[in-house]
Amino acid sequence: MLQTQNYISEHKERFLDQLMELLRIPSISADSAYNKDVASCAEALAVDLKRIGLDNVEICPTDGHPIVYGEKIIDPNLPTVLVYGHYDVQPADPIDLWTNPPFEPIIKKTDLHPSGAIFARGACDDKGQMYMHVKAVEAMIAKQELPCNVKMMIEGEEEVGSENLAVFVENEKERLSADIILVSDTGMLANDVPSITTGLRGLSYVEVELTGPNRDLHSGLYGGCVANPINILCSMIDSLQDENQKMTIPGFYDDVEILSAEERAEMAKAPFSHEAYCKSIDIQDTHGEKGYSTPERGSIRPTLDVNGIWGGYTGEGAKTVIASKAYAKISMRLVPNQDPDKITKLFCDHFQAIAPKGVSVKVTPHHGGEPAVTPVDSVGYLAASDAYQKSFGVKPIPVRSGGSIPIVAMFEKELGLKTVLMGFGLDSDAIHSPDEHYGLFNYYKGIETIPYFYESFAKRMK
Ligand code: BES
Ligand code: MN
Ligand code: MN
Repeated sequence: MLQTQNYISEHKERFLDQLMELLRIPSISADSAYNKDVASCAEALAVDLKRIGLDNVEICPTDGHPIVYGEKIIDPNLPTVLVYGHYDVQPADPIDLWTNPPFEPIIKKTDLHPSGAIFARGACDDKGQMYMHVKAVEAMIAKQELPCNVKMMIEGEEEVGSENLAVFVENEKERLSADIILVSDTGMLANDVPSITTGLRGLSYVEVELTGPNRDLHSGLYGGCVANPINILCSMIDSLQDENQKMTIPGFYDDVEILSAEERAEMAKAPFSHEAYCKSIDIQDTHGEKGYSTPERGSIRPTLDVNGIWGGYTGEGAKTVIASKAYAKISMRLVPNQDPDKITKLFCDHFQAIAPKGVSVKVTPHHGGEPAVTPVDSVGYLAASDAYQKSFGVKPIPVRSGGSIPIVAMFEKELGLKTVLMGFGLDSDAIHSPDEHYGLFNYYKGIETIPYFYESFAKRMK
């Protein structure tokens, strides 16, 4: 891979310019006002895949945003790597909290990124990470050092639940046949502590609507006499967790995978600083389920969070009113063996059951996703470990992540393939938040590490 690595260092500047161009396109999948931008992002990517030498490049239409596909089959007898990533991004709002406009990428230094980071929506999640693969494959093709077949499938709907990708995968099993799936859409512990993600949490997401009286009421005339849906919603939500932050929904923990003391001890070896954690987000202390460490609470334990809550008067000044309705969006992160549909049903039944007579409850489920775990003794994991060892000079640590990529479990079910999660982002990169960024070190390290994965994977599959 010497020629490939030389090619990468010779073309560093262009690789960065090209990523910046991609980041200028506001490919926000959730907001239909940006549909044209999502489409032009897919087109720009397809142009790139053709330019680097992939064959059968296609913008595959779906009922939603298109999937960009391309492949390089050098020898049907060689192993095949299927790369997955997403070119869609989260909405940029609240836009006024960005230091620079979200779709005008700029490079700035930070404490954790002393050699600079690209600030833009999608810089880390996932354009920057997805594009590392495009550039790494470009380099291997250019230098004729590609040791495996490669297929690339980049979708435009990851941030909205990948529903149409699931249909595509079901229908295109032949085209997508491969030996391993390779994804860079997660993170690592620190730039000098590389890690490989071995688990993703699942997700159950519901929206609740409480209705009290048939109209908004004067809070003096009616206050104290009727159930105020906002008050009730707050106490119902509060009751979902007890004083030890355990969920009170009956059956919620029934299927939760329990890790052995050895497994937990192994996990605890990964470096973690409580102080640095608190300092990085300006809090005095952490908060969570009794009996578990912060890294455990954020990875191997299920959680419940209100993502939004609204109702009543929120304008200027005071208005004395009891609103007829109150709303909340609630997410539950799930761990191995928990089934999102089952959890959603348990939530619905429980939330109905705890509502007082004075209100009625409507629960609407949104898209969810299954958890996933990847074994550390698979060929794919070992090849990734070799690759990090080569590029970072140290052995990567396996770490379970708290985030979700629902399609990963689906890949395993439909294609029978394991996924290797080679993520290069940091938790502090502010994905989904204002001032999202991605370190230049991380971008280039990713491009450098990926060819080593191909090399080791090809060798190990012989
Ligand atoms: N790339 C993230 C998931 C992620 C980030 C996993 C960091 C591990 C570490 C992905 O784009 C994402 O945001 N997923 C959503 C779920 C999806 C259904 C909207 C999530 O985790 O909230
Ligand atoms: Mn992502
Ligand atoms: Mn995301």
